Amino acid sequence: MRVLTLIGSLRAASFGKRLAGAIETLAPAHVRFDRTDGRDLPLYDQDLDGDEKPAAVLELYARIEAADALLFLTPEYNYGIPGPLKNLVDWASRPAFRSPIKDKPATIVAYSPAPTGGARSHAQLAQVLAGTLTLVMPGVSLLVPAVHEKFDEAGSLTDEDARRRLARQIESLEAWTRRMKSA
Ligand SMILES: Cc1cc2nc3c(=O)[nH]c(=O)nc-3n(C[C@H](O)[C@H](O)[C@H](O)COP(=O)(O)O)c2cc1C
Repeated sequence: MRVLTLIGSLRAASFGKRLAGAIETLAPAHVRFDRTDGRDLPLYDQDLDGDEKPAAVLELYARIEAADALLFLTPEYNYGIPGPLKNLVDWASRPAFRSPIKDKPATIVAYSPAPTGGARSHAQLAQVLAGTLTLVMPGVSLLVPAVHEKFDEAGSLTDEDARRRLARQIESLEAWTRRMKSA
């Protein structure tokens, strides 16, 4: 299975990027990962969204098409999803009803230093993805609260509970992807 991880943070020392790295090592070897934070995409502009799309948009489409499933990793910014992630989803949602993310199996992991664990950004992203007809895995939502306490100084995910829950999330995503492909 090929998973494209879409990370809602641009910063180099992002906890989301660290979580992505941890998930890559926790997942079974047959799960292959690609990742992007969408930093090369222009701001969505319908004037750019014609027959000749920007190269970064075509690259995003190709990477989504090459993936069997999507893993969204989002922090919470002001009770919502960060602008770059919304921008990425807006590009990926075009053309409407025929987009590369339509019918693509996906799951959302939200995280935050707060005890709420990005619950509001999780809910907001689920709502946005409902508008894109992405097949978000139902019932299995994963929040990582106090994310800054889950890593050691070298940046490795040491929190056992988070490790177990993230590993299970990828197992569930694989099962969900198989189910959606055979549906
Ligand atoms: C502009 C901004 C707004 C934020 N708003 C919230 C928020 O509403 N709720 C929350 O739990 N954390 C909030 N945070 C904290 C982020 O979730 C936290 O910094 C997170 O680690 C950012 O993700 P990253 O480490 O992957 O860059 C905010 C951070 C920033 C920079």
